[in-house]
Amino acid sequence: MTRNFIFVFILLATLTIINAIPLHKRATSFGPCPNVQDTFTVTMSPDPLISPHLTTITIAGEETSGRIINPLASLVITIGDVVPVQPPSVSPVCNSTDCPGSKVAQTVTFLLNATLPPSYQIVLSVGNINTSSPQMEFINDEILACALATVP
Ligand SMILES: *[C@@H]1O[C@H](CO)[C@@H](O)[C@H](O)[C@H]1NC(C)=O
Ligand SMILES: *[C@@H]1O[C@H](CO)[C@@H](O)[C@H](O)[C@H]1NC(C)=O
Ligand SMILES: *[C@@H]1O[C@H](CO)[C@@H](O)[C@H](O)[C@H]1NC(C)=O
Repeated sequence: MTRNFIFVFILLATLTIINAIPLHKRATSFGPCPNVQDTFTVTMSPDPLISPHLTTITIAGEETSGRIINPLASLVITIGDVVPVQPPSVSPVCNSTDCPGSKVAQTVTFLLNATLPPSYQIVLSVGNINTSSPQMEFINDEILACALATVP
């Protein structure tokens, strides 16, 4: 009896490991953006992205330049191939009283409901929003910290 239990346990453990391998491979891998020094880690749910679906993205990191101190600092999430599949998600990085300074940590939830192309990029950039720009561009087009992933 005990033997059977051990066998079942090992079988289950093996199945779990086998299951975990492809899952791990499918996790989207983020890296720094070209010409931007500061980056951060990204966790995404669901991963890979599903559309339509509520999507939660969490970033965490420490910037070396320490320039994210402006109340206009925002995290902009763009998903797309050549053009964004839907309007970017824009959310402040600072609250009314405090900016993160050198530490960047933010969780954003948005609805992804556009059709995803077979191959696309997920770009997360932090910069100071130019409030006079209708496209919500960054002041001086300057990205302060950034991470990107190419899917698949
Ligand atoms: C603002 O952000 C700071 C630092 O991230 C945090 O300690 C504080 O609780 C936040 N305040 C509010 C009102 O969210
Ligand atoms: C996606 O959601 C937005 C906002 O809720 C809505 O305006 C738009 O029509 C939706 N698009 C699709 C393709 O469902
Ligand atoms: C802000 O946006 C406006 C309108 O697009 C543009 O004329 C201006 O040069 C921008 N300012 C900066 C500092 O990027």
